[in-house]
Amino acid sequence: MSIIKYGLIVFLSWMNPSHAGDALSPMLGNPLSETTIQQRNFTVFQNGQGLPVGQGGVTAGKKIYTSRCLSCHGFEGSGNSAEELAGALHRLTDNPPDKTIGTYWPYATTLFDFIRRAMPMDSPGSLSTQEIYDVTAYLLFLNKIIDHNQTIDNKSLANIKMPNRNGFINHYKNNN
Ligand code: HEC
Repeated sequence: MSIIKYGLIVFLSWMNPSHAGDALSPMLGNPLSETTIQQRNFTVFQNGQGLPVGQGGVTAGKKIYTSRCLSCHGFEGSGNSAEELAGALHRLTDNPPDKTIGTYWPYATTLFDFIRRAMPMDSPGSLSTQEIYDVTAYLLFLNKIIDHNQTIDNKSLANIKMPNRNGFINHYKNNN
């Protein structure tokens, strides 16, 4: 038997699924459990789909913001090292643009999703659902999108009309 044929037989036998998990296979990855998939599959869509049941208010949100966000984002959402969240002095269309939640973000639901997924940056995933609703309400208030006494919940968040809702071009729609 030539070396090429012999090599082919070895290769085909390595491809055989019955060898999965033996010393020759790459042994990469483990199947995820249903619980882990549920924990990681937590996207909130722009229409509110995926929001957990809950509600939040501005006063409680201010407390969360002060203890968990202010050190990076500054008093009332601006002035420290991290991204400016509120307090725009001019518009997104000015030069240079002033990019805050109020001037830029098209959906309030995305704000909830982003905070739950990524903030506080030094400890993402550490806020409860209640705390995320509260701090989202406070940030909407700082951006003059809701009043001080207004609460938000999993039903109302998608109905909030963000100032820059129509400022995005749907590239996919325009090119198909
Ligand atoms: C340790 C510093 C730190 C802390 C604490 C922190 N953030 Fe942030 N945050 C950042 C940085 C840095 C960015 C920019 C990250 C990026 O653009 O990827 C950011 C981005 C954001 C954004 C997106 C801003 C934008 O327009 O792109 C939001 C919203 C936000 N943070 C909310 C919060 C909230 C709410 C808290 C408190 C619960 C918090 N952050 C705590 C550092 C921090």
